[in-house]
Amino acid sequence: MGIIYNADNGIFHLQSKKTSYIFQVDHRGYLVHLHWGRKITDSDLTQFLPIVERPFSPMTDPDEPYFSLDVVAQEYPGYGTSDFRQPAYQIQFDNGTTAAELLYQSHRIVPGKPRLEGLPATYVESDTEANTLEITLLDPVSNMEICLSYTVYESFDAIVRSTRFTNQGKQPVRLLRALSASIDFHHKSMEWIQLSGAWAKERWMHRKLLAPGIQSVESRRGASSHQHNPFIALVEPTTTEDHGDAYGFSLVYSGNFLASIEVNQFQTTRISMGINPFDFNWLLEPCETFQAPEVVMVYSSEGLGGMSRQYHKIYRTRLSRGKYRDQVRPILVNNWEATYFDFNQEKIVSLADEAKNLGIELFVLDDGWFGKRNNDRTSLGDWFVNLEKLPNGLSGLAKELNERDLQFGVWLEPEMISVDSELYRAHPDWCLHLPDRRRTEGRFQLILDLSRQDVCDVLIENLSGVLSSAPINYVKWDMNRNMTEIGSACLPPERQRETAHRYMLGLYRVLDTITERFPHILFESCSGGGGRFDPGMLYYMPQTWTSDNSDAIERLKIQYGTSLVYPISAMGSHVTAVPNHQVHRITPLSTRGNVALSGNFGYELDLTKMTLDEKELVKKQISQCKEVRDLTFNGDFYRLSSPFEGNETAWMFVSEEQDEALVFWIKVLAEPAEPLRRLQLRGLDPSAVYVEQSLGLTMHGDTLMYAGVQVPVTAGDFQSVSWRFRRL
Ligand code: DGJ
Repeated sequence: MGIIYNADNGIFHLQSKKTSYIFQVDHRGYLVHLHWGRKITDSDLTQFLPIVERPFSPMTDPDEPYFSLDVVAQEYPGYGTSDFRQPAYQIQFDNGTTAAELLYQSHRIVPGKPRLEGLPATYVESDTEANTLEITLLDPVSNMEICLSYTVYESFDAIVRSTRFTNQGKQPVRLLRALSASIDFHHKSMEWIQLSGAWAKERWMHRKLLAPGIQSVESRRGASSHQHNPFIALVEPTTTEDHGDAYGFSLVYSGNFLASIEVNQFQTTRISMGINPFDFNWLLEPCETFQAPEVVMVYSSEGLGGMSRQYHKIYRTRLSRGKYRDQVRPILVNNWEATYFDFNQEKIVSLADEAKNLGIELFVLDDGWFGKRNNDRTSLGDWFVNLEKLPNGLSGLAKELNERDLQFGVWLEPEMISVDSELYRAHPDWCLHLPDRRRTEGRFQLILDLSRQDVCDVLIENLSGVLSSAPINYVKWDMNRNMTEIGSACLPPERQRETAHRYMLGLYRVLDTITERFPHILFESCSGGGGRFDPGMLYYMPQTWTSDNSDAIERLKIQYGTSLVYPISAMGSHVTAVPNHQVHRITPLSTRGNVALSGNFGYELDLTKMTLDEKELVKKQISQCKEVRDLTFNGDFYRLSSPFEGNETAWMFVSEEQDEALVFWIKVLAEPAEPLRRLQLRGLDPSAVYVEQSLGLTMHGDTLMYAGVQVPVTAGDFQSVSWRFRRL
């Protein structure tokens, strides 16, 4: 592991356990990319820099005929000085022009990983875990300075990149584009994977061959969004779950982003990632700096599965923080789909009684407990208890729950303000809005202007009041609309287009303060389900409500796609009622349980309405969860069968010591003349012997992996099984 610099040829070789990332400062001062992929021995790859005549690719220096930035693989490219591809940055100078050129000035290698000012980021617990290379580049004409940061971890095959801009000139400049990272691949014959969808069908996997030109995903919604996740992967056409090259790019940010791929005329491929330049314009006064968020780049030669397991490890252990980072999470019941807004203390206590009998550990009181919130048209911002519903307040309810040995959790939607609220009547300018324009409502609500320090400060105090008012162990932090009329009453005209990013910085400050003030609280992020399931939020909250779609069959694709990047420990997953409230499908309770057990397990239905048989099964599921949650939380995750490719989904968890494994297999539709199928397991110790009691099977790991396990012939739709293998 390390960062090797050769001063003779200006080559940097960044090495993790299995990967090499190599680039060079050439004699002109440009940063030229040479290799990223499997670990290699040699650093001097100057053979990859032939100078070839390319008509219509302008020369940067007449004394060096045919050298053009248009054909060079670069680390952080600009526009306007001979490269015509997508730039990583674009700066508008005081004279109105935008061409710039960055040349190497200096570098330093520091142990550990410096913090990113104001932004969520991966971290180290000791400086021995990683090394960071910081390279300073300068545009000599404007004195604009850019610092590229590369962190190499000892135990992950990840390179973490970010970029910081400092205006060393005498005039203000405008950042029109300030991406976090750019990387050039020498070929184009690759496929790309995006995680896209919509509300209630988030993060479906889409895999396509790269085509000439630009292909991209982005968000312009002021949140990372249900529609596209801030993640893309590049793979070889032959890459599978287990074999082949897989490159992942994941942006640690929760707002507008761009992830873009350009295949150019010479069939090379450029990846660009960062804050979306669309509607972004940042004024940088002399001596000011701008820090772009970081991109976590993972390479694996062991296919998509290998890539995902790297992401799971780094995000679970060095992005998530706090008390709950390493702790399995309590089994919860949430009253949302049980009662919606229609509850009172008596109803909640009756649910809690059942919850206690069944072995549930945490009761979450969802939306509707505050102000006049009997529907979604009112009261966001008025965070005081509705005493008609809960006469003894949150503390009184918490007491009842604690007496039943249940922890207490509460729903909040702190970033929002209802038009019908006392807060809005008192402070109509506290929301994002533009002068003289309509204030477009989403779910009858507006968004608090968190680009304003005063609004953030009041929010922090109001939240602190609620969270100290009762023994609260858990918070579901919801966010149910995207931004429109993006502007702030407190910013001057020339800074209005900074609002969306300033909002994110404000939100991150609020989250930092609140999570630090209340370290004993488990925070779960939510945005109408998975509208902000991103690494930025994971930094503050170790789990996210994966989707408002809780149907077990719909969840197969959602959870499978989500697992491409995000650890299982981050996914909230609940058993809900049938017919399912989102798609009206009726699935067996056993299958609902099996799918939900593959995440942070809970229930979200009226427990008092279950039959005795159902309650018996729920008890079994809960005790199963208590037995296996350490494994699903900490274990290595292997995807065995994809819901995007067929009628069956299977995945499994293997403990680090390979002494335990848990397999889930789910079949969507019943089929006539069903073929007899075998499921080949993964990740086991080939020479170890494993026992699976329900199957009466004692087999070696190699048999289970290379011959497989016979899949049962089932009757009816939506069937599933779970198998637990233990080393003999
Ligand atoms: C959207 C969330 O995703 C739901 O789980 C629920 O909390 C509602 N909001 C409450 O309004």
